[in-house]
Amino acid sequence: DGLLPFQHEPYFDFADPAVAEAQTAAYAQARQKYAGQTFPLLVGGQQVKGDGTLTVTNPATGEQLWHFQNATAAQLDEAVRAANEAFQSWRFSDPLQRASIFLRAAQLLRSRRMELNAVMSLENGKNWAEADGEIAECVDHCEVFARETLKWAQGKPVYPMPDEHVTTVYEPLGAVAVISPWNYPSAIPLGMALGALAAGNTVIWKPASETPLSSWLLIRLLFEAGLPRDCVQFLTGSDDVLGDPLVDHKDVRMVAFTGSREIGCRIYERAAKVQPGQKFLKRVIAEMGGKDPTVVCADADLDAAAAGIVASTFGYSGQKCSACSRVIAEASVYDTLLEKVKTLTEALKVGLPEHNAAVGPVIHQGSANRIRQYIENGKGTARLVCGGGEMEVADSGEASANYIQPTIFADVDAKDPLFQEEIFGPVLAFAKADDWRHAIDLANDSDYGLTAAFYSRDPHKLTEARRLMHVGNLYLNRKCTGALSGSHSFGGYGMSGTNAKVGGPDYLFWFLQTKTVAQKY
Ligand code: NAD
Ligand code: ALA
Repeated sequence: DGLLPFQHEPYFDFADPAVAEAQTAAYAQARQKYAGQTFPLLVGGQQVKGDGTLTVTNPATGEQLWHFQNATAAQLDEAVRAANEAFQSWRFSDPLQRASIFLRAAQLLRSRRMELNAVMSLENGKNWAEADGEIAECVDHCEVFARETLKWAQGKPVYPMPDEHVTTVYEPLGAVAVISPWNYPSAIPLGMALGALAAGNTVIWKPASETPLSSWLLIRLLFEAGLPRDCVQFLTGSDDVLGDPLVDHKDVRMVAFTGSREIGCRIYERAAKVQPGQKFLKRVIAEMGGKDPTVVCADADLDAAAAGIVASTFGYSGQKCSACSRVIAEASVYDTLLEKVKTLTEALKVGLPEHNAAVGPVIHQGSANRIRQYIENGKGTARLVCGGGEMEVADSGEASANYIQPTIFADVDAKDPLFQEEIFGPVLAFAKADDWRHAIDLANDSDYGLTAAFYSRDPHKLTEARRLMHVGNLYLNRKCTGALSGSHSFGGYGMSGTNAKVGGPDYLFWFLQTKTVAQKY
């Protein structure tokens, strides 16, 4: 009530020279403001130094950007204590107060989008449009979570009784550890943290070490919007100190994690163990990887399918959990589609994200080496259609090895690692299906079940796809990336995770417990 109707935050039009100029200038301003600085931890509202620092490097050039603290085990303990102490007041905060903080945060975000785009791009190598899409999602999250706060504060109706007054209300859990990946360093930790805070929990915010400034700026912005400073503890440092020990901590009530399958499964398992002195069963959200298919039926609009495939496969160099990494096409259109996808792929410009190239680097050399190994192995098991070789990118400096040619393999067998494993790079596997039903079976032949796209003009096939595709986010006649908060709640099936569905109508339930109160008249 009293809120304006929700609207998704529109993207910048970078084709407008004035907008492009402003985005270019924002990189220089971000460097001037932040380069070389060392940022603290935040514990109990205080800025704290750790034991030494870590350095953040630009994956596009190797440039050293800024430094963050290495938190100690004692500081982790102190942060958990501070989060539990702050919980004692934040749990009773007025939902209207929480909602108005998030709305104010949305306003502040709108005024800083270009700076936040530039910082993210410097930290993780997203080009303008990819960074802008993510920061616009942050604005949407604030608007959505403001509304969800008010919705869940009302409780839910129950079946009435003649002689008792019965209510069902939702209460927060406690201190929530928010552990996030580098590939969505703004929208993902913000979505999990807002879920926790909107429900009345407090947060221990642990960003990926590759991308901490993206988090730091959002936390400062939340404080500026009115969030009490003890509600978020910010910890950076090594996984030895902040990984298992944070998950195992007896006073961490919930872990909200987004990242790899390996770490997600590890957290799920460790959090199940009740530690000495622990007085609850830990809640876990673990949103993990994907091996996302695009199915193309013989009757589909092949040009639209090809454009969707190329955008969702090679956007941000394929480093999205939602990225298309398998195309399954009916035999009768397979060659035509492959040719169209190849042509569009070969036209992609690989270069510096700062110059807004279509495809940039991958996050670091370890990742590049892993991806190259998949490509080398693929040359022995499938047909290389394009890419797969070495390349040079001007001005990439010490990070030149981080650039990988957009690569397509055809005739990939369903048992091939190219078809089954998350590569997390610019590599696409094409497989041929006997017919559209077979194509759905091949699409479902995966441990994962995050996103999928399905292209057809036939209403019957579209209905069958709705019923049969085993994924949390199914997109019909559009690409499988680019979920919008509030509309496309996000989260997968199978080994893609707990299906918590951030940005959706039930997300806050994960951060709440339910109290039934029955009063005798
Ligand atoms: P990662 O699992 O390596 O790291 C994620 C976070 O976990 C980091 O902050 C890391 O420091 C932390 N971590 C490492 N060891 C830990 C431990 N033992 N206990 C607790 N935390 C620990 O993932 P990444 O490389 O940063 O991200 C890429 C992965 O994330 C891909 O698999 C991608 O598909 C997935 N992802 C999933 C979604 C989704 O919504 N399903 C969204 C984005 C990314
Ligand atoms: N939410 C991101 C997308 O849908 C990962 O592409």
